[in-house]
Amino acid sequence: MSTPTTKKKNSNSDHKTNLRTKWGYTMQWTPQHLSQDEIEQLRAQFDERGAEALQRIQAIVARQGPGEKGSKPDMFAVLRDHHEEDDFLAAYWEHLHAVPEWVDWKQIERGQRFFARYFVANCSLFAFQAFVRDNTATPGVAEVVSRTGGLAVKHLLTRLIETFTWFIQITHDLQAIQPGGQGHISTIRVRLLHSSVRQRILELEKTRPGYFNVEKYGPPVNDLDAVHAITLFSCKAIALFPLLEGYTAKAILTQHTGRHAKMGIYPTDQEAADFIALFRYIAYIIGAPNDGKYWADITKAKATFESMLWYELVPNDTSKILAQNFIKWIEDQPPAYFSLGFMEAACRWMNGNEMCDALGLGRPALHHYAAFAGHNIIVSSLAWAQRIFPSLDRFVVAYTRKTLHNALTKHVTGPTVPTNGIPPYSFKYVPNHGQKMEVDAQKPDPARKQRIRPFECVFMAAFIVAALLSLGLAVGAVRMLMRLNGTFGVMSWIYGGRGD
Ligand code: HEM
Repeated sequence: MSTPTTKKKNSNSDHKTNLRTKWGYTMQWTPQHLSQDEIEQLRAQFDERGAEALQRIQAIVARQGPGEKGSKPDMFAVLRDHHEEDDFLAAYWEHLHAVPEWVDWKQIERGQRFFARYFVANCSLFAFQAFVRDNTATPGVAEVVSRTGGLAVKHLLTRLIETFTWFIQITHDLQAIQPGGQGHISTIRVRLLHSSVRQRILELEKTRPGYFNVEKYGPPVNDLDAVHAITLFSCKAIALFPLLEGYTAKAILTQHTGRHAKMGIYPTDQEAADFIALFRYIAYIIGAPNDGKYWADITKAKATFESMLWYELVPNDTSKILAQNFIKWIEDQPPAYFSLGFMEAACRWMNGNEMCDALGLGRPALHHYAAFAGHNIIVSSLAWAQRIFPSLDRFVVAYTRKTLHNALTKHVTGPTVPTNGIPPYSFKYVPNHGQKMEVDAQKPDPARKQRIRPFECVFMAAFIVAALLSLGLAVGAVRMLMRLNGTFGVMSWIYGGRGD
């Protein structure tokens, strides 16, 4: 009798072995994975404490009257300066600055190094998988993002810079993420921003029902979206570079546990646990579910990550618009000057053909895959070298932190100082009736078009060198075997023969 299986498009579930496949990723379903009921419960909930706090801060701002002409109120500064005047805000401030008993600062500090240690691979992962796939193919998130114009070509630079600035702030050093540190403050700002996004969209839905389908997607930026976002930030790096507890070479080869390294980097279990611990604490500050059942250890975190993949990735027409706009914007942007073909190859390598076809991405030529393979050879070789030489690892982490901190935090955005009357992490594109993104007709500026793409050339060179080395090694091995055969008759040992 054949094994009972359920099969729908892009997914496959085997009830006997509990193996499930979705978008080319095979996972072993366990009781730790989330049930459909749990998913629906999370979808219906949101950060109510943050929403109430925002309303009270807005009431204080209203009492204060208009500020300087053209300036926007800095919600964080109002909360910081006035929380003692309101019991709810005082308790909220205390909650934001409390440290849950499961927080282990040593572990958080180790988790912070993960970002700088695998910086290039992390960036590729966030760009070509988190942004292109998860942000676009999750209908509820895509609906919010499209309403806020966040991935329209003209808003992308600011959004990406702010997201990176935030990342650099939360991983800079331990002090930065502890209560009162720059990363801690920025995360509170982002929490207030999310509450503003939700409030604005729900207001529009109230005045003109049908603007945002709350029944279908849940409230904007709900707990399910937030859990998904946290897995996207934390587990992705682990599940797709990855090496998780209990893997076997056979599992990697057969992909039966989904633990196949897309970029040839294998973080240790300790690194995985540390990075997840950092993001569990971020979940606490940002008002996302931070229950141990989702994040207590890497097995639970992996089950949460796979549950999101199983239930939440359902690309639709909005997903196509968002994904294509994103790719279009990055094309030929300095300093990388990536070609469309290279990025499509990267997306297909990371997300598989099924998903990329569903997102309407093109099929690039073979040499683009070769260039992305070269990228992987570089990042994985560097990762191995860092593992072997701890002093190199310390240098890479310190250098990355310093360079990025200088480039983004100080020179570009100056996030500690409000710029042009606009506080950091505030609305860039306030949603309104009738506004939803379309395919962005804006083409990259022709002046940006580069003949030579330095990064792709380096990646291609790495691929060619690796291919020549492999070929050289193979030829060398054959010649060695022939020489040994000439001297000792090795072939007769292998194939057997009479020694007469
Ligand atoms: C829980 C984990 C999350 C983290 C750590 C996070 C992080 C951030 C950061 C750093 C920003 C500021 C940079 C920017 O403007 O792009 C931001 C803005 C934003 N986030 Fe999130 N986010 C999370 C969850 C979500 C979810 C689940 C949604 C939607 C369903 C969402 C929607 C938005 C929107 C619409 C903005 C931008 C508003 C604007 O710039 O006008 N975020 N988020």
